[in-house]
Amino acid sequence: MEPKAQGAALTVRSLTAEDIDTVLKLDLELFDEQWSKEGWQREVSGNGIAYYYVLEKAGQFLGYGGYWLVFDEVQVTRLGIIRSQQGKGYGDFLVKALLAKAREQQAQVVTLEVRENNYPALKIYTKNGFQKAGIRPKYYANKDNAILMNLKLR
Ligand SMILES: CC(C)(COP(=O)(O)OP(=O)(O)OC[C@H]1O[C@@H](n2cnc3c(N)ncnc32)[C@H](O)[C@@H]1OP(=O)(O)O)[C@@H](O)C(=O)NCCC(=O)NCCS
Repeated sequence: MEPKAQGAALTVRSLTAEDIDTVLKLDLELFDEQWSKEGWQREVSGNGIAYYYVLEKAGQFLGYGGYWLVFDEVQVTRLGIIRSQQGKGYGDFLVKALLAKAREQQAQVVTLEVRENNYPALKIYTKNGFQKAGIRPKYYANKDNAILMNLKLR
């Protein structure tokens, strides 16, 4: 099935150092665990295995996501859509875009961790073919379990 966001003027571009302030603000809203500004700077310009992308609609920042590529294995590190735009299919659209990028890079497998009660994220990953591969007990700072998921790309 096509994503709900299909048809909108959506673009996916590389995340750059100019996006870091926007990303830091969004992370505060969305995530319990923050990366520092320096950490983000390293991710964007100093980390040769990191790939981050911004989702925009007519130039408006909707969210971002990214991963590390180690040999032929992709590890999704972050995915976030601004609160006011959640539930419109943009997260699904972005995941599909990340998977397309990973395929272009000849990745074989994609792995990620997701909080066990993060139903929107679990829904998107399952819809895109990810399968549950295990549990990391008390993985998050508040002791929530993480579900480990993976997807074989080829
Ligand atoms: C997870 C996140 C990226 C999803 O983005 P989004 O644009 O809201 O997601 P979408 O609209 O593409 O899809 C959400 C899906 O979850 C479903 N959903 C939403 N709330 C749900 C719930 N409580 N239970 C089950 N499914 C739910 C929606 O129905 C939709 O599925 P559908 O398209 O089959 O109807 C976004 O919620 C977010 O940024 N969350 C905070 C950060 C985060 O948790 N990131 C992921 C870390 S692994």
